[in-house]
Amino acid sequence: MKVYIRTFGCQMNERDSEWVMGSFLRKGFVKAGSPDEADVVIFNTCSVRKHAEDRMISNMGILARLKEKRPGLMLGLMGCTAEYYGKELFKKLPSLDFVCGANSIHKLTDLVEKLKEEKEKAALTGLPAQRPPETDSYYRADKNKASVLISRGCGNFCSYCIVPYVRGPERSRMPDDILKEIEGLIKRKIANITLLGQNVNSYGKDLGCGVDFVGLLKMLDGLEGKKRIEFMTSHPKDASIELFEAMRDFEWLSKHLHLPVQSGSDKILKAMNRGYDSKYYINKVKYFRKIVPGGTLTTDIIVGFPEEAKEDFEATKRLVKEVQFNAAYIFKYSPRPPALSSKIKDDVPRDVKERRHRELLELQKSISKRLARKRDR
Ligand code: 5AD
Ligand code: SF4
Repeated sequence: MKVYIRTFGCQMNERDSEWVMGSFLRKGFVKAGSPDEADVVIFNTCSVRKHAEDRMISNMGILARLKEKRPGLMLGLMGCTAEYYGKELFKKLPSLDFVCGANSIHKLTDLVEKLKEEKEKAALTGLPAQRPPETDSYYRADKNKASVLISRGCGNFCSYCIVPYVRGPERSRMPDDILKEIEGLIKRKIANITLLGQNVNSYGKDLGCGVDFVGLLKMLDGLEGKKRIEFMTSHPKDASIELFEAMRDFEWLSKHLHLPVQSGSDKILKAMNRGYDSKYYINKVKYFRKIVPGGTLTTDIIVGFPEEAKEDFEATKRLVKEVQFNAAYIFKYSPRPPALSSKIKDDVPRDVKERRHRELLELQKSISKRLARKRDR
């Protein structure tokens, strides 16, 4: 049987899709080049913003028409939206055969084999009661780069974010498992490796084995043959001076920091439950720049969070001008129940959100260009 997986959303989802493809290949399935030639089509879904969910549902409509022509085609959803809605999705998308939430992907191949025989519909969801098995499925989509999960889930509960509800609490992988996986990648001469976690800087806190993120980096320093290792995402409240020192001292470690600020207004940062204010953030950046000369910095920003007044947006613009990010990913706020902010009225009108989004993009574009010119000189 041929399998096709399309991924929506973040790098975590990309890695999960790759892992699932690997487990299908091990069972004798074959990778399909397009949905047209596949027997099983799976969408790996993202629910971080409503827009991503809507896009996935409209794309699923195209597949439903494909299934009218080929009734044997199996259609499934995996990932965050699958986790959140579970079997409700069968009502929304009647042509769907299976749903596999983000925390059950290790059971997906067995599910497909079972459904192939039984021709029924099934949904696997539920937050993990235990750590999911995190063995490497050995399939890697790219010869030059690979990502390695160091943790799953997030326990921060930023008020706008659905991730803790769909991916569950933070579960770090054991350092030895991570090392073994990276050793395997080095043996295969994969030069660029990215360590992935929702908040890499809180790595290990749940393990109680005395290894934190910097400790993990120190362990990696002992591995022969590595070329370049990146990491993302860092949370400003947990990114430490020791991390910046590791970025300075380990030549194999990327000098790039993705440090989402989300807003420059202290009122909004508080309502977002981010655990820092603008002064704290700017101070962290100062340390980063001082300790890691030549380091690059990117961020995420949300505009139009509930009750974001003109002066709050002005504060974000001021912070962007002051910090001078190399790049910023700017998003329009979208309420994501059950995340807490969805209980506050989404009161910034759409046209205001769009205007702020455009304005900030323009501002960032000019900063990015200027910094790139400066670097090229
Ligand atoms: N609305 C808009 N943007 C969001 N993000 C997360 N949740 C939401 C939401 N409800 C953004 C944040 C985060 C990035 C991955 O997505 O900026 O850092
Ligand atoms: Fe969401 Fe905040 Fe966790 Fe990032 S740190 S995944 S924004 S809850």
